[in-house]
Amino acid sequence: MIVGESGSGKSSLLRAIAGLWYCGSGRIVRPRPEDILFLPQQPYMILGTLRSQLLYPNRDLKIADADLQRLLESVNLPDLVKRFGGLDAEKDWGKVLSIGEQQRLAFARVLLMRPRYAMLDEATSALDATNEESLYRQVAATQTTLVSVSHHSALLNHHKQVLELCGDGAWQLHPAEGYSFNR
Ligand SMILES: Nc1ncnc2c1ncn2[C@@H]1O[C@H](COP(=O)(O)OP(=O)(O)OP(=O)(O)O)[C@@H](O)[C@H]1O
Ligand SMILES: [Mg+2]
Repeated sequence: MIVGESGSGKSSLLRAIAGLWYCGSGRIVRPRPEDILFLPQQPYMILGTLRSQLLYPNRDLKIADADLQRLLESVNLPDLVKRFGGLDAEKDWGKVLSIGEQQRLAFARVLLMRPRYAMLDEATSALDATNEESLYRQVAATQTTLVSVSHHSALLNHHKQVLELCGDGAWQLHPAEGYSFNR
């Protein structure tokens, strides 16, 4: 789990790991990019159908409608298909869905793709504690290893180590067990 004050560089660190930032210098050791799924701080809704939102970034996957409906139910979006007229409905998803709904939709990609690693940048920041715990519990039951940026202490339970960014490039590593946000 990566923690630190707003502006301390948490998202920047993930962007550098994702290969999106080239400024600065140093050496980055990371798994193969195809083994990592990133959920950015602003949920990324692509243009297109509800189906393609769920399948992104593997839009050619063939998954049965009933399985996609079950997936939506597992992230607590049971009515979405009905509300918008089917999995092939096209909307401006970033406008018609609340941020919390977009976050649950993006999280569904992690559960569907089951990447080796998922890097989640405040991916559940707009959700209530019950929804957040349910999503993390479901990922914990898979083989996916999570790296999360978050300010929510409840998520410590789902991580083993805490990387605290202290500003000005300083950092500390702590065991997640017993870590306190108000040190
Ligand atoms: N595209 C950018 N170009 C230049 N500087 C940036 C850019 N995005 C962020 N920064 C700066 O880099 C610093 C770290 O930002 P970053 O987004 O990594 O913080 P953060 O720890 O993720 O904060 P938050 O908790 O608010 O999401 C900030 O001072 C920010 O203003
Ligand atoms: Mg950030």
